[in-house]
Amino acid sequence: MNNPLAPADGRGAPLAVARDVWKSYDRGRVEVLRGASLTVRAGELVALWGSSGSGKSTLLHLLGGLDTPDRGELQVCGLDPREERARLELRRRHLGFVFQLHNLVPDLTVEENIRLPALALGAGPAEMAARVRVLADRVGLADRLRHRAQDLSGGERQRVAICRALMNSPRLLLADEPTGSLDEATGENVFALLRELARAERAAVLLCTHERRFAEACDRLLRVRAGRVEEV
Ligand SMILES: Nc1ncnc2c1ncn2[C@@H]1O[C@H](COP(=O)(O)OP(=O)(O)O)[C@@H](O)[C@H]1O
Ligand SMILES: [Mg+2]
Repeated sequence: MNNPLAPADGRGAPLAVARDVWKSYDRGRVEVLRGASLTVRAGELVALWGSSGSGKSTLLHLLGGLDTPDRGELQVCGLDPREERARLELRRRHLGFVFQLHNLVPDLTVEENIRLPALALGAGPAEMAARVRVLADRVGLADRLRHRAQDLSGGERQRVAICRALMNSPRLLLADEPTGSLDEATGENVFALLRELARAERAAVLLCTHERRFAEACDRLLRVRAGRVEEV
C-alpha cells in the first residue's frame, strides 16, 4: 500500500474529479449513476470496485470523455471532458486507456501498436523508437517488438496495451478491468506490471475491477454501489 510518489499528506494535485454525476441510459429507464463523486490525485493508484453492472465502466467513460453525463461536474487534468476540444487534448496528451480487451491492431507489430498514440503528436521516428524500447523493456517485451499483435498471448497483448497507453506519458491512466479476460496467474502479473510501470512513469491510475484482491492491492479503494461512490 506504500506509494513513494504519493505526497506524504496525501494531497497531490487532483487529476480526476467527479462531482454529483448522474447518468442514465435508455431515456432514463436505466439509472446507473445517481450522484457519484470521486477525486483521484497525482501519484495515486485508485481502485474503482463494484459488482458487475454497478456503473464502473460508465463512470470511467465519462471521465475519459467517451460518453457525457446527464448532469454533474467533471474535471480531468484541469479540463472538462464534456467539451469536444478538451476531449481531444485529453486523449492526445493527458490520458491513457487500458481496456479489458486490449484493442490492439492485430496485424500491426508490437512496436507499431505501442507507438500509435505518438503519431498524433508528430514525434520523430528515433525518439518514438527509443520510447517504445523503454516501455517494452519494462514489461519484458523488448524481444517481441517485431511480432504481430495477433501472434501474442492474452497476457502479452495486455502488456502491449499498457505500454501503448503510456506512450505519450499521460498523467492519468484509466484502466477498465485490465485483468478481466486473463487467467489468475497472468492477471496478477499484468496487474503488477501496470502498477510498476505507472509508478515509474509517474502516472496516476484509476482502475476498475470487480475483483477484491486487485482492489485491495491499490493505494485507495472506492466502491461503486447504488449509483454512488464510497470510500472503503
Ligand atoms: N449504452 C448503454 N445502454 C444501455 N444500458 C447501458 C449502456 N451501458 C451500460 N448500460 C447499463 O448500465 C449499467 C452499468 O453498466 P457498466 O457501467 O458497464 O457497469 P460495470 O462496468 O460496473 O459492470 C448496466 O446495467 C448496463 O447494462
Ligand atoms: Mg465494466
